[in-house]
Amino acid sequence: MTDGRPRKPRRPTRDPARNAAFDVVRAVDERDAYANLLLPRLLRERGIRGRDAALATELTYGTLRGLGTYDAVIEVCSDRAPDPDVRDALRLGAHQLLRMRVPPHAAVGTTVDLVRLRVGAGAAKFVNAVLRKIGSRTLDEWVPIVAPDPADDPVGHLAVAHGHPRWIVSAFRDALGAPDELADLLDADNARPLVTLVARPGRSSVAELADAGAVPGRYSPYAAYLREGDPGQIAAVAETRAAVQDEASQLVALALTRVPLDGGGEGDGDGDRDGELWLDMCAGPGGKAGLLDAIATHGDLAEAADPAAEGFPGGARLLAADVQYHRARLVWQTTREAAVVTADGTEPAWRPGAFDRVMLDAPCTGLGALRRRPEARWRRDPSGIADLGKLQRRLLDTAVDAVRPGGVVAYVTCSPHLAETRVVVSDVLARRHDIEQLDARRHLPEVAGLGDGPHAQFWPHRHGTDAMFLALLRKRS
Ligand SMILES: C[S@@+](CC[C@H](N)C(=O)[O-])C[C@H]1O[C@@H](n2cnc3c(N)ncnc32)[C@H](O)[C@@H]1O
Repeated sequence: MTDGRPRKPRRPTRDPARNAAFDVVRAVDERDAYANLLLPRLLRERGIRGRDAALATELTYGTLRGLGTYDAVIEVCSDRAPDPDVRDALRLGAHQLLRMRVPPHAAVGTTVDLVRLRVGAGAAKFVNAVLRKIGSRTLDEWVPIVAPDPADDPVGHLAVAHGHPRWIVSAFRDALGAPDELADLLDADNARPLVTLVARPGRSSVAELADAGAVPGRYSPYAAYLREGDPGQIAAVAETRAAVQDEASQLVALALTRVPLDGGGEGDGDGDRDGELWLDMCAGPGGKAGLLDAIATHGDLAEAADPAAEGFPGGARLLAADVQYHRARLVWQTTREAAVVTADGTEPAWRPGAFDRVMLDAPCTGLGALRRRPEARWRRDPSGIADLGKLQRRLLDTAVDAVRPGGVVAYVTCSPHLAETRVVVSDVLARRHDIEQLDARRHLPEVAGLGDGPHAQFWPHRHGTDAMFLALLRKRS
């Protein structure tokens, strides 16, 4: 007060990035929305671009990933349980204070403004007080206060410190078998994945993607990383000659095509796949089918097939199936030559022994792709794993039935959970005497660190990919 009159309260400012982030976090909390679908739509509808869009994205995804950690800190800083909308605002504020480089006065001030505008003045006071307490310490200082002692409960400690549910940390620890890498794995899960593109052979090339600003991938001869920009703006992607696809997804498909087959006539392991029939049994939405279809048609780049050649220099034909019609449609849109059907893999619509190679990319928990869907880790629930396991075993049985003697099945999951990976494979192997397991790592010689075999397990912190699992099974001749 300079002239004796009371100063007008400052009007809260409306911050488009923080409002969008708040709306998405609320929608995820309240009605199980998917952040990666809703956020881009909101940004488009509200004309939020550039730095504001980047801020909204970091705020939304970072807040959702770190919920478990932030809730633990919020709990010790609050004298009552906040209402859900206030709790979501506190989570956004906590993320800015503890993990972003937003100056504390800005993190607190903007969150208080948001709450005043969107919830009410009373709630704004409460939020102000709680955020000030949260901002009084760094994340490293909060962790020992809110997390279990690592000496007594190492898994519980990592769960709170790295924002993952405890059961997932436990499952990762069992699958990884290298406890000293567990924190790195959880950190990698919290980082935004690099956009990886696949140049479908004969349809595009890594050189074409490089001209569009991408850099060649580390392992897959078809991969290129896009560090910035919208992949949809790249002509090859818009024309489905290339696509966004994790590098491990490319490599497991590639490994299946590389295994020499035993007997069976023409396509018998000398790199010549003439006349081979391939099946992608759970193909939707078509990532792996898109690459398999291109290799079937045009051949593997490593074998220097002439991309301009007419017909099918790749020599093989692909049938792609999915139980859901709308997912089979997506496969249809992404492939060129493959036959696509809506079919239940557990009740095969094909003759037993009809195929030379079968890809079974089984429905799974998706624990290997938590980087992509920031809220997914809090939605998953271990109770579904037993039912999924039954379906995975039935599908693996029918995949083995579908392949001819000497042919190969790739069993793939985007989850490293042992109950969905090694246990499924060893159960089926123990029951059936018509298959043997191959060393999958031998067919991926360019990648180190895939585990003790015979399966191959990719990891985000080692390979920069999703935690994809691959087992290769050959039907005995
Ligand atoms: C992990 S996704 C496959 C991803 C796909 N291979 C790709 O690379 O894009 C699993 C798919 O299995 C399908 N699915 C689930 N149960 C199935 C069944 N009984 N028969 C065939 N497909 C099934 C789901 O609809 C889903 O599209």
